[in-house]
Amino acid sequence: MVGLGVMGRNLLLNMADHGFPVAGYDKDAGKVEALDKESAGNNVYAAAGIEQFIGLLRKPRAIMMLVPAGPPVDSVIGDLLPHLDRGDLLIDAGNSYFKDTNLRAGNLAAKGIRFLGVGVSGGEEGARNGPSIMPGGPADAYELVRPILEAVAAKVEGEPCVTYLGPGSAGHFVKMVHNGIEYAVMQLLAEAYDLMKRGLGLSDEDLRLVFETWNRGDLNSYLVEITSQIFGRIDDKTGRRLIDEILDVARQKGTGMWTSQSAMELQVPVPTIDLAVSMRDLSVFEKQREAAAGIYKRPIPPFSGNHKSFLDQLGHAVHVGMIVAYAQGMSVLSAASDKYGYALDLEAVARIWRGGCIIRAAMLEDIRAAYRNQPGLANLLLASELSASLLAYEEDLRRVVCAAVEFGLPAPCLMAALSYSDGYRSAWLPANLIQAQRDYFGAHSYERIDCKGTFHTDWTKGLNG
Ligand code: 6PG
Repeated sequence: MVGLGVMGRNLLLNMADHGFPVAGYDKDAGKVEALDKESAGNNVYAAAGIEQFIGLLRKPRAIMMLVPAGPPVDSVIGDLLPHLDRGDLLIDAGNSYFKDTNLRAGNLAAKGIRFLGVGVSGGEEGARNGPSIMPGGPADAYELVRPILEAVAAKVEGEPCVTYLGPGSAGHFVKMVHNGIEYAVMQLLAEAYDLMKRGLGLSDEDLRLVFETWNRGDLNSYLVEITSQIFGRIDDKTGRRLIDEILDVARQKGTGMWTSQSAMELQVPVPTIDLAVSMRDLSVFEKQREAAAGIYKRPIPPFSGNHKSFLDQLGHAVHVGMIVAYAQGMSVLSAASDKYGYALDLEAVARIWRGGCIIRAAMLEDIRAAYRNQPGLANLLLASELSASLLAYEEDLRRVVCAAVEFGLPAPCLMAALSYSDGYRSAWLPANLIQAQRDYFGAHSYERIDCKGTFHTDWTKGLNG
């Protein structure tokens, strides 16, 4: 393992726990020393220099890198290359951009070095005790490390949350979309929090209980679970709930933005993910928001409805939002699979997301079943495994969106989920007008419903008599 930050170190210790002898190296001598002190003798070898590190490895070497995405990955590859032999395997287990992975795979293949781009999800706890692992690259290279990855991955009903996903950058693409869905679900939960806090006036303790209750039902998921715990946490410094001491600004490392950009390139709509990225960006304009709050004052009208029914509707609204977020993410995967030749098995993707990763959720069982029963499924919204909940909860999402509008509180991801499903189930859309407008001002031509071909009309002919 090159890169002994929290993720690299924990994944390394996880491998050692499963009986695999491992070696770790980092440019930061302090991290190497810490690893040596903590784990020497337990199948773990800490190397102070790159030569020593390479000398510890059996051939063909298998070297995993867990360093920040971008230039650090190329820098580590550059450092390692002079010491490698043909047939050695490099594994990039960070959140690399998939196009970078394609470039690196090509460059390394030309030198006879095998390369896997592997997404790892689950944060530090997951890396230590069982992450979800999303590998892509040459299948024979995966076989070389399959036993290790299967051993360290999370298990759900005995099945490891790892499988070979496809060639090239398939693994990093799937991890990127995982993160796009992660952004969307986090924003949906944040919107629900806002509606309950500023709309209904609930306390942090009430919020803790609501999320805890949701987590016991069909919203059961890692993100709902940790959200409940977050509301219960007391700040060591002030003795108050920690959540209220945290600045309302959410930054990002870019994977959610890449999902939006990639979806746009593939011309697949993912509005819930797009807005989750945008709302993080908006949160960063903290000073501007404060100025605007002073100009556009609008008191939040008191809620006159029944709290209990609204909370039920809100839970259902979040449920629909989550299904829509998965549907959008999966539709990007499906398009990428065709365009980039990944040949993804979406049932397998849903299967390995059921445990270990940040977006693990009970509803992934239904999503998995949907792809198992219909391997070529075009969109999750068409699956009977999901449509029953969507039909049952759709009106509640509508009520919640209306309430958000009346409160004057932003709920863009809930709204986008509703608009997406309203758009998707529209057998007719007003796109005929768009065609006509394009043809009017740019002679772009239009298609007709009554015959094939493209047509142009001189729209100004006959105007004003
Ligand atoms: C995971 C997480 C992990 C990381 C994200 C955070 O699956 O374990 O997604 O990869 O926490 O990169 O992303 P942002 O910093 O962009 O929120």
